[in-house]
Amino acid sequence: MPKMPHAMILGTGHAVPDRILTNSDLEQMVDTSDQWIMERTGIKERRIVTPGTPLSALAAEAATRALDAAGVTAEEIDLIILGTVTGDMKFPATACIIQEMIGAKHAVAFDLSAACSGFLYGLQIAEGLMLASGYRKALVIGGEILSSMVNWQDRDTCVLFGDGAGAVVLGAAEGERGIIHTCLGSDGAHVKLLYNPGCGSLNPPTPENTAEQLHTIHMAGREVFRHAVTAMSNAMQQVLQEAGIVPTDLQLLIPHQANLRIIEGVAKRFDIPTDRVYINVDRFGNTSSASIPIALDEAFHAGRIRPGDLVGMVTFGAGLTWASAVIRF
Ligand SMILES: CC(C)(COP(=O)(O)OP(=O)(O)OC[C@H]1O[C@@H](n2cnc3c(N)ncnc32)[C@H](O)[C@@H]1OP(=O)(O)O)[C@@H](O)C(=O)NCCC(=O)NCCS
Repeated sequence: MPKMPHAMILGTGHAVPDRILTNSDLEQMVDTSDQWIMERTGIKERRIVTPGTPLSALAAEAATRALDAAGVTAEEIDLIILGTVTGDMKFPATACIIQEMIGAKHAVAFDLSAACSGFLYGLQIAEGLMLASGYRKALVIGGEILSSMVNWQDRDTCVLFGDGAGAVVLGAAEGERGIIHTCLGSDGAHVKLLYNPGCGSLNPPTPENTAEQLHTIHMAGREVFRHAVTAMSNAMQQVLQEAGIVPTDLQLLIPHQANLRIIEGVAKRFDIPTDRVYINVDRFGNTSSASIPIALDEAFHAGRIRPGDLVGMVTFGAGLTWASAVIRF
């Protein structure tokens, strides 16, 4: 039997830039084609900010929408966790900037670096802090301006990523409704499969380092693909087993939206039919930590999640990191 939850999602929200970058647009920028991108990734278009738009702008909008949906005021928020690798600045935490923007005067706010796993890492940490420290309402946000660290000359990576933010408000669980179980994992043996080596203390942003594109995303695509399918499948297996749930109990699976082939590979392993898997990678590409909360908010608005539904979530990212969750709505 699944455990009784401690915290539940009270409301969701998301924000994406208006500007659309299509595969046809990318054909004008690098040696690629709509057909190649669609066949290898399932991505048709992605949203990109006007250069100079900070993450806080999108994330505060997503947070405000989640607060409105939850019927909770910003002043009631005790905790803000932002999962991101593209904050406004190196410091302070973008979560503090968002705190000021939305007026969450009483919150503790910090950023969390777990790449594409940032939102689900944040969810478990928020739930744990609510239990341990008595916080009653929390905002968990995943947001990225990945266009700010993409090398637009590198066709291996520039076709994959997009910008966006998603947020949830957490409050006390009601009966069986809430976060049933979450699992997190990391493996530092594969740091260089997917990383941004510049701008940190290892390679400060000198003109030489910038000229070598060290401040952009570096990725070994094929290996990342292989690890992603294995890690996401294992993370799903673990969360289902530990929660005492079988795949057919899930009304919806919300996987990280990195690549349609990865999503289909994971769904197939668990015999979950496509109509029970939420997919929007075609419209947004990989928005890293934002991908699950954007998909969750869309799924709600599309009527794909109803009260009582069991929803699975699973992700994978640089680190390597991975995470999974089962939530009853
Ligand atoms: C990146 C990815 C789409 C590449 O697909 P793939 O089937 O593995 O393709 P390969 O890397 O083997 O490349 C095949 C060929 O396509 C070429 N290619 C790469 N990007 C291309 C592009 N945008 N357009 C056209 N051709 C491209 C390669 O140069 C290679 O050419 P070659 O055979 O002449 O050397 C795929 O590996 C992937 O999705 N990996 C996971 C990435 C990811 O999700 N990262 C984030 C994790 S959170």
